[in-house]
Amino acid sequence: MPPSVETFDPQAAIRAELLEGLLAEPAHIASKYFYDALGCKLFEAICELPEYALTRNEAAIFAEHGAAMARAIGPGCTLIDLGAGNCAKAAALFPLLHPSQYVPIDISQDFLLESVARLQPRFAHIEMTPVAQDFSEHLQLPASVREQHRLFFYPGSSIGNFSPSQALALLRRMRALCLGSDGGVLIGIDLLKDKAVLEAAYDDALGLTAAFNLNLLRHVNRLAGTDFDVKQWLHRAHFNAALGRVEMHLLAAEDVRLSWPGQQRFFMSGESIHTENSYKYSIEGFTELLQRAGFEVQGQWTDADQGFAVIHARASAG
Ligand code: AVJ
Repeated sequence: MPPSVETFDPQAAIRAELLEGLLAEPAHIASKYFYDALGCKLFEAICELPEYALTRNEAAIFAEHGAAMARAIGPGCTLIDLGAGNCAKAAALFPLLHPSQYVPIDISQDFLLESVARLQPRFAHIEMTPVAQDFSEHLQLPASVREQHRLFFYPGSSIGNFSPSQALALLRRMRALCLGSDGGVLIGIDLLKDKAVLEAAYDDALGLTAAFNLNLLRHVNRLAGTDFDVKQWLHRAHFNAALGRVEMHLLAAEDVRLSWPGQQRFFMSGESIHTENSYKYSIEGFTELLQRAGFEVQGQWTDADQGFAVIHARASAG
């Protein structure tokens, strides 16, 4: 057989995307690259911080209202878990939701397969279909995913990493994949709140978020062959009220000459690289986004402090 002309080198594509962002004005790095092995551990540690209440708030909502959610959703769904990681959040819902098929999707294949191998024996009756995919680009489901009663599970306010227009496109894609009349979404969103509270969550006193942000540079060094020295960069986080998002940046602490094979870029002291947006929503604002994507809100649950919301919506007819 002749060699395929469609050879696609994912590593070259990642390198190209990263280097394009580093040459842009202002420079940026996509937040999905936070999650190398150390980045995953740092994020887990962040979730333990008093300043970062998101994960605890969401867990409290599932603990208190999981049974009501399951009643609204009904048994036997095809549970599609976006950014599944260790699959723990979905697994905690299995005894309530009784999915007939579980489809965890994650960018990190090894981690995903390990997680599913650990989970399958505990839930032998649930068909598990792991999919290694960067769904932020183009969400696709293999033919082995049942069409009936698809429920897209997107917890953790991860949808906040997308701009509202990107989030709308992703929701519309989910809507298109809700082939049966009974498809839907179960999504966690962090709610708009006091600026000081939001900023503390992304600039904690122990400096874990700073380490999480700076660790990105080491990951990029490995992916793209750059020569970032984390000691030359400073963590910055602030709430951009006009756009409803917390922004994270890395600021050059001094003049920096960044090099990689065949190219270089200078950063003046104080120049920044934009590394993350974390959009915050009101329930009304997110409901409107869901409606524009073709979903109808069926239920919404919040924690006692109204910090976080879990929203269940069904694909509307037509
Ligand atoms: C995993 C995307 C929900 O935006 O709050 C935590 C990542 N960034 N601290 C978030 C994150 C800084 C987190 N998400």
